Amino acid sequence: MTDIPKIVTIQASGVSRMFGARHERFTAVDDVSLTITSRSATGIVGESGSGKSTLSRMLVGLDKPTTGTVTLDGNDISDLARTADGMRELRRTVQFVAQDSTSSFDPRRTLRYAVRRPAQILRGLSRPEADAAVDELLDTLALDPASADRYPGEVSGGQRQRFSLARALIVRPSVLMCDEVVSALDVSVQGTILNFIKQYCAEHDCGLVFVSHGLPATAFISDEMVVMYKGEIIEQRPAEEIISDPREPYTVSLIDAYRGKRTA
Ligand SMILES: Nc1ncnc2c1ncn2[C@@H]1O[C@H](COP(=O)(O)OP(=O)(O)O)[C@@H](O)[C@H]1O
Ligand SMILES: [Mg+2]
Repeated sequence: MTDIPKIVTIQASGVSRMFGARHERFTAVDDVSLTITSRSATGIVGESGSGKSTLSRMLVGLDKPTTGTVTLDGNDISDLARTADGMRELRRTVQFVAQDSTSSFDPRRTLRYAVRRPAQILRGLSRPEADAAVDELLDTLALDPASADRYPGEVSGGQRQRFSLARALIVRPSVLMCDEVVSALDVSVQGTILNFIKQYCAEHDCGLVFVSHGLPATAFISDEMVVMYKGEIIEQRPAEEIISDPREPYTVSLIDAYRGKRTA
């Protein structure tokens, strides 16, 4: 019998997130509704400060909306995050990788330990099984197995970011959320990592949310693209269409900025 993976849906409905006390209340995300599935690759673009990270943190249950709801297959993510079982289910389904892989690793543990643990805890693999899974992933990510015996501070930023991806993918999530994962890396290694993510998600039926201020990278990796401006979604269409026929002046300015015709 073939194992058909079930489609997982994350739905944001009328989600807003405010920061600050009453008088200086600031709306970082403003009434956003968005549907993500394990069959889609969604890119979220916008300039720095447009609310991309705040939105993505709410989509994976790392932050709670001030108003509105985020659901995972119909269950409120904030409710799931409240119980140990719910949290486990959430982490098995959705994995998050962010830009700064330095602070997300325990400096006293080897990289192998960091990648192996989620396989043991979330997939219930034995230590030898988890080690085998680590080796397989390192191989796909073109990482030398010996580098896994190093500590997070002993490898390059590009290598650490690949370990960070390995740590997320070892869980075999239904949806991978990447927030500025290549932004801090040399252009030379960005392409390799983007290609890997794109190929991995296609081959493993893994949904992708790719968040970046970099428009070309986001368009390359996503099918559907969402443009954010001051906390709101101002445009949402297939990536190719947005690039070839942007409707909003803000989107045009984002595209022009990458063509070296920066206007404002
Ligand atoms: N924890 C926080 N407290 C106060 N303001 C925040 C917090 N997180 C984000 N913001 C503000 O919300 C806005 C959107 O931030 P962010 O979601 O990080 O944008 P982006 O990821 O698009 O650069 C920014 O003005 C930022 O300063
Ligand atoms: Mg951000």
